[in-house]
Order: sequence, then C-alpha cells, then structure tokens
Amino acid sequence: MAQFVINGGKKLKGEIRVSGAKNAALKAFAAALLTKEPVLIKNVPEVEDVSRMAELIKTLGPKVEHIRRGEYRVTADKLNSSEIEPEIGKKLRASIVLTAPILIRTGKVVFPHPGGCVIGERPIDVFIDGFKALGANVSQENGLYNITARKLKGAKIVFHNVSVTGTETMMMSAVTAEGVTTLKNCACEPEIESLAQFLNSCGADIKGAGTHTIIVSGVKSLGGGTYRTIPDRIEAGTFAILAAATKSNILIKNCEPEHLDSLWNVLRKAGVRLNIGKNQVEVIPSGLKTVNVKTHEYPGFPTDLQSPVCVLLTQAEGQGLVHETIYEGRLLWTEELKRMGANVLMHDPHRISIQGPTKLRSRNIESPDLRAGMAYLIAVLCAKGKSVINNVYQIDRGYEKIEERLRKIGADIKRI
Ligand code: EPZ
Repeated sequence: MAQFVINGGKKLKGEIRVSGAKNAALKAFAAALLTKEPVLIKNVPEVEDVSRMAELIKTLGPKVEHIRRGEYRVTADKLNSSEIEPEIGKKLRASIVLTAPILIRTGKVVFPHPGGCVIGERPIDVFIDGFKALGANVSQENGLYNITARKLKGAKIVFHNVSVTGTETMMMSAVTAEGVTTLKNCACEPEIESLAQFLNSCGADIKGAGTHTIIVSGVKSLGGGTYRTIPDRIEAGTFAILAAATKSNILIKNCEPEHLDSLWNVLRKAGVRLNIGKNQVEVIPSGLKTVNVKTHEYPGFPTDLQSPVCVLLTQAEGQGLVHETIYEGRLLWTEELKRMGANVLMHDPHRISIQGPTKLRSRNIESPDLRAGMAYLIAVLCAKGKSVINNVYQIDRGYEKIEERLRKIGADIKRI
C-alpha cells in the first residue's frame, strides 16, 4: 500500500491547476450508456474512482477507450449485462447512477447497496421510490436489489431528501421515459446542470436543472456527443483552504470561482484575502480568525469541504462551531486531528467546536476516506516535522497525482 511521507511546516508558493470534477465525469460515463453512439469525455481527472467506473462499464459490454490523458471514449452499442458487478459497486457510490441506463437499455438492473466513503448511513430510498414512481418493479434478494421495467413512464416525483446522485439518476431515467416527468426538491449542484446540458446536447429535453424543479420530456432516443468535464469545485476549494491554513500565497488556476461563493464567504469572514478572477483565485497569506461553518446542499457550504475547513479552524484565533448537516458520520475523522494536537470538542455526531490556534504535531495517520484523507494532508502540511499518511488509495480516489502537484508549489511530499 502506497504512503505519503511529508515534511510539514513550510510555506507554499506558486500556481496549481484544478482538474476536471470527479463527481461530474463519473456521471458522464454513466450517461454515455444511454446511447448506442460513441461519447467522448474530456478533461477527465485520472483518479481511482474513474478507473473503477471504467472497469465497471466494461463488465457490462460497452467499450471504454482511454484515448489520452484526461480523454475517454465510451461506445455502448452493446449492453449485454444487467448486473452491476457487486465487488466494484460496493466500493463506488457513483455506481448507483448506472442503474438508470442499464434499466432503460436492458429492462432490468441488479445491483448491490453502493459503497464509497465511510461517512454515514447513505440510504438509497430516493432511488427506489423514484424508480417505482416511474413504473418499475423493485425487489431484493440475497443482498442485491432487482429492478425491472419494460418501459419507464413519466411521473411526478417529489424527493423526500435532496440527493445529488438521486436527482441525476432520476433525470437520466426520465430522458427516454414515455411522457413528461417532473422532479421536485432536486439537488442544484453544478454537476447536475452540467449533466443536463450534456444530455440535451445528445437530444434530451430537460429544463430546470440547477434549480429545485426539473422537467424532463421523454424523447425516443439519444445520440452520441462530447462532454467536457467542468472544473472540480471541491478540489479548487481544498487548495484555497490549504493555502489559507498554511499561510501560503497560491494561485489556483482553471477553476470556476462562481461555484464556490459559500466558501469565499467563509474564508473572507476568517480574514483570508482573496483575489477572485474569472477562472482563477489567488489566496494571499493573512492572519486567521475563526468562523462558524454549517454544511448545506448547494449553493450552501459543501459537506465535501467540511474536513479541510476544520483544519483551517485549528489555525484560526477563537472558537468556531462546525455543523455537519448532511452526514452523521462525517465528523468522526476529527478524533485523529485531536491526536495531532487540535482542540476539538464533539457536542454530538453533527456538531463540533474547534478552539484555535493550535500547533499541530506531525503523525503517522491512516486515511479513512477521500476528503478526510485530504484534510489530514493539509493538517500534516501545517505541522512541523515528518508525518506519514497510509492508505493513500483513498486520496487517489479523488485527487489526481496530488503529491506531484503539491511538490510544484513547494511541498515536501513523497509517495513511497
Ligand atoms: C454526492 O453523494 C457526492 N458523490 C458526494 O461526494 C457528496 O458528499 C454528496 O453528493 C453531497 O454533496 C457523488 O456525486 C458520487 P446525496 P450522494 O444523495 O449523491 C441522504 C465525495 O467525497 N439520502 O446527495 O451519494 C443521504 O444520506 C463524495 O466526492 C437519503 O436519505 O449524496 C445524505 O444525508 C462523498 N436517501 C443526503 O441525502 C437517499 O436515497 C445527501 O446525500 C439518498 C440520499
């Protein structure tokens, strides 16, 4: 198992480029199975989750060609299996979005409860209710879900919970359903709007993506097309927090600052100076005062940035409250942050207080999941001395060649 060895406590400086968004690219791979024609997917981050998705799709019959770095062609002229390979499906939460094209193309889909990060319960009732509303039959056997439908029929679906992959899956399911589907209480993340634009470019008729109500008028079939992955807002935000926490001057390039307004608010309140341009953000070293942060669905503060921002608060003056509203297990990683010297008080599974500033101590740490792993990386870059992060597969799931990119801005980090 690869490890990162880091010598922290140094200021960083320079430019860092943001990759394409993992959580947008993964959905484009699934959307490519809705058509028999080739789909070219560009600006794809070369991360482990993308490799798992490509592997999974190949087991279903379609061809996935890795044309060059960041570019893939998916040709799903054949889709001859209805089963999401359980071992991969259990590892990858995004595998659940494949249920839509598989059901549409084969009339059936069999899949395990999808996995991903260990951040909470992660139920799938939104999907099950949605498929039933569109006329599918759902059963469960030997730990696998089994959904069948000869032809999905348009319906009104009011999601009982705002779900990103739930909205994406139902939007895809409705694209070729008979009649009109109205989706209410949808998630509004930029990745959803981007997916809808791509589907429309292939012939779908989707209106309202990016708002809470999406209306999909069913079309006969979709053609092929090209999808350009939008910049990863979580990666851009992570780099901005890294710069602020290590008091470094970093220019984050190739990002979409508009997707991160809630983060800019938090950083500015914390005293961080920012120069925000059209596709770039410069973070200028500054003194830090604490802020309260509450995660929320887009356009609120992203849960995926909760762990990095906790590290930032350990470096800020005063006591800040972090309220994680989306996942009940996503603050547990702070136990290890405490062992690094952070002054963290857990009030309940959703709320912690962080008293700063504290000097973090270097440490040998296990990366429990993707975003917490990246937060540890920020923490050890703040801490003077040698630290080791184990299980970096978790970080590789979502951040492309992170050590190489961090080295370019002066970080002392090695993969061994
Ligand atoms: C997506 O997960 C992202 N993953 C997550 O990113 C991200 O943390 C999350 O959205 C929230 O922004 C992908 O896009 C692949 P949800 P998703 O369904 O869609 C509850 C990362 O680090 N819920 O929007 O799985 C659920 O328990 C990952 O890149 C139900 O109750 O998240 C949670 O409390 C981690 N029933 C809330 O909704 C359901 O059927 C939001 O989850 C589905 C969800």
